Amino acid sequence: MEDVMATQKVDVLIIGAGAAGMMCAIEAGKRGRKTWVIDHAKKLAEKIRISGGGRCNFTNMDITAKNYLSENPHFCKSALKRYTNWDFISLISEYGITYHERDHGQLFCDDSAQQIIDMLEKECKKANVDIRLNTKVEGVSKRDGGFLIMSNEHEIECEHLVIATGGLSIPKIGASNFGLKQAEVMGLNVIHPRPALVPFTFDQDTRDKLAGFQGIALEAVIKLGKTEFREALLFTHKGISGPAVLQISSFWTPGQEVQINLAPDTDVFELLKKAKQDQPKQEAQTVIATILPKRLAQRLSEQADCKGKLADQPDKKLHALAASINDWHLLPSGTEGYRTAEVMRGGVDTNELSSKTFEAKKVPGLFFVGEVIDVTGHLGGFNFQWAWASGYCAGQYV
Ligand code: FDA
Repeated sequence: MEDVMATQKVDVLIIGAGAAGMMCAIEAGKRGRKTWVIDHAKKLAEKIRISGGGRCNFTNMDITAKNYLSENPHFCKSALKRYTNWDFISLISEYGITYHERDHGQLFCDDSAQQIIDMLEKECKKANVDIRLNTKVEGVSKRDGGFLIMSNEHEIECEHLVIATGGLSIPKIGASNFGLKQAEVMGLNVIHPRPALVPFTFDQDTRDKLAGFQGIALEAVIKLGKTEFREALLFTHKGISGPAVLQISSFWTPGQEVQINLAPDTDVFELLKKAKQDQPKQEAQTVIATILPKRLAQRLSEQADCKGKLADQPDKKLHALAASINDWHLLPSGTEGYRTAEVMRGGVDTNELSSKTFEAKKVPGLFFVGEVIDVTGHLGGFNFQWAWASGYCAGQYV
């Protein structure tokens, strides 16, 4: 029987058995490196399991550096070229995992995200990687030729240490600030982390105005400066959500207004003006209901005080109503935070790392992969592709 407190000697120790950590472990193991992956969670890769509504949007058909946010937008290019979406697609194909494409090139498993976890676990086994769950790190120290890691289970000596502990979102399934803290302790700069791909919330005043909109979903354009997304927008009881909102949230800083076009294919003022001419007895809300959900049309018309026949509405009021649809300005009071955010923006400063090996320039032997690094993908499979690519690349060098 294994003496649990005896010092274990491995070549590569990876902290975090998520998407990036397992990918890195597989590659290191294939190179004959004695590799352990430890994770404090009870279950393997919980984020993969819950991703994509249980079907894991594992990559995208169109991966470019433009789909990532970072203080250094060039950093991700090399890894994304060296391990592409097609590399991952061919891996899942070997395991007979079937998939389908949805809007915007997003690829999802036909069956279940669990298939991806099972595949990674099998690949780890094939590469003789040892995965240890329920393992808490209690201390990390640098020593000649490597690191010494104290955990609740073992004392582990390793030559190379990989931190793959992900971002801060969804703490209840194991997210922690371990990676960010460890980077700081080792003297590396960390770009201020904040929730991204996250719904917006509003103050009570705005919430009162939005009362009654809950549950309405529609395609909209949402804009912040020059950045815009055209996708579904959903009104929730706290604010707004849906893909369009999640996307723009990654670009948002507190205090900024977002601009929303609820009817991107229609010039609403022109529509109302024409209706006023052609059918002057009609009400504004009836006209608006031809392009927006009825409940929304009714509330927005009320809020613009456009009640009664169109013939009686001055153009000024019609303009105001049209603007509330085509050019609605909203000031979020905040976001739902890490409780629901899909990812964290910010993280270990890419200037501290080699974009080839993912090793810290100041701390030889220490590597970071995945979401813990300041590289954040748009919604649509880009974050997993970053995890696979960064894990794969570091796995060639650890
Ligand atoms: P990941 O979070 O996968 O793994 C980190 C691991 O480290 C975890 O297992 C954790 O338990 C462990 N850990 C943390 N702290 C530790 C500590 N102190 N000690 C030991 N272990 C520790 N992306 C995408 O591309 N398509 C999608 O469909 C989705 N869907 C989605 C849904 C939801 C609800 C969320 C929250 C996120 C997504 N994402 C996504 C984002 C995606 O899940 C995420 O970017 C990747 O999982 C990041 O991979 P990492 O391996 O870096 O971290």
